[in-house]
Amino acid sequence: MSKRRVLTGITTTGTPHLGNYVGAIRPAIAASRDDSVESYYFLADYHALIKNKHPDEVRQSSKEIAATWLALGLDTDSATFYRQSDVPEILELTWVLSCQAAKGLMNRAHAYKAAVQLNEEAGEDPDFGITMGLFSYPVLMAADILMFRAGEIPVGRDQIQHVEMARDIAQRFNHHFGEIFVLPEAVVDDSVAVLQGLDGRKMSKSYNNTIPLFDTEKRLQKAINKIKTNLLEPGEPKDPDDSTVFQVWEAFANPEQTEEMRAKFADGIGWGDAKKELFAMINEELAPARERYNALMEDPAHIETVLQAGAARARVEAGELMVKVRDAVGISTIR
Ligand code: TRP
Repeated sequence: MSKRRVLTGITTTGTPHLGNYVGAIRPAIAASRDDSVESYYFLADYHALIKNKHPDEVRQSSKEIAATWLALGLDTDSATFYRQSDVPEILELTWVLSCQAAKGLMNRAHAYKAAVQLNEEAGEDPDFGITMGLFSYPVLMAADILMFRAGEIPVGRDQIQHVEMARDIAQRFNHHFGEIFVLPEAVVDDSVAVLQGLDGRKMSKSYNNTIPLFDTEKRLQKAINKIKTNLLEPGEPKDPDDSTVFQVWEAFANPEQTEEMRAKFADGIGWGDAKKELFAMINEELAPARERYNALMEDPAHIETVLQAGAARARVEAGELMVKVRDAVGISTIR
């Protein structure tokens, strides 16, 4: 039986938070335990250069993200876990794909269009401050995906368009040069929670409303205490479906615990008590991984060894594919 191949990248900007954990990391690690799946997970550090100009932040984020995935139990024997920049074939493929990607297609990319629109609203030149990196970002992402012939790409909604562009580019390439690439599809799992942040909007670094994943216990508690609530007093019934505290609870609880908390809301549990229970539950799930995380952060050489082993595996495949790609486009030894 041939296995389904699943691939996803994590841009190395910022520190992982509970939203990343619930929405991406936890389901990805669970999927990697499925025997019928081959998973490819990687640190998209070249993507980070588009959004971040601070080398130390890119370095720190790469370390934190790698430590996070390992601490949470990613099995790097079954999953191929690597850093994009350790597989230089990806950049080679990026160029070949750039020569297939229609500029008009790239003009329609949401991230680029949003940047142009901001410029126009500010009365600037439409391309003010826009780099070729931002503009051709979807081509780099297409190379990430097509290199490993992955059929399923789990992503957030904001990335669906990029996966569709990868598919489009692959189709064009295959049409001209022969069937080399697998056509990928974006997979958006609706059963996975999009976690709300402190202010009730989607938890996101750009809203500055995140709860850290592996900060100290104290700071986790502090952050949970900051979740916005209404002014209802203890004893007054509360609406769970209108509450971030409950939404976050649901993302960590089993169905019985969820029902229990629903009943407590109806009984008028005070916000302070609800938050105490929420902290206890999240902390119980995260505490063992937090310890492993702290140990890993103290042992960067180990993280590096794991990443190098992943890259070595990835490069075998990438090298084989590039031989085919180069040959298909006419770049080969003189014969
Ligand atoms: N662009 C994605 C993001 O910002 C990260 C990413 C890079 C990615 N390459 C990928 C995701 C390939 C899926 C497949 O979220």
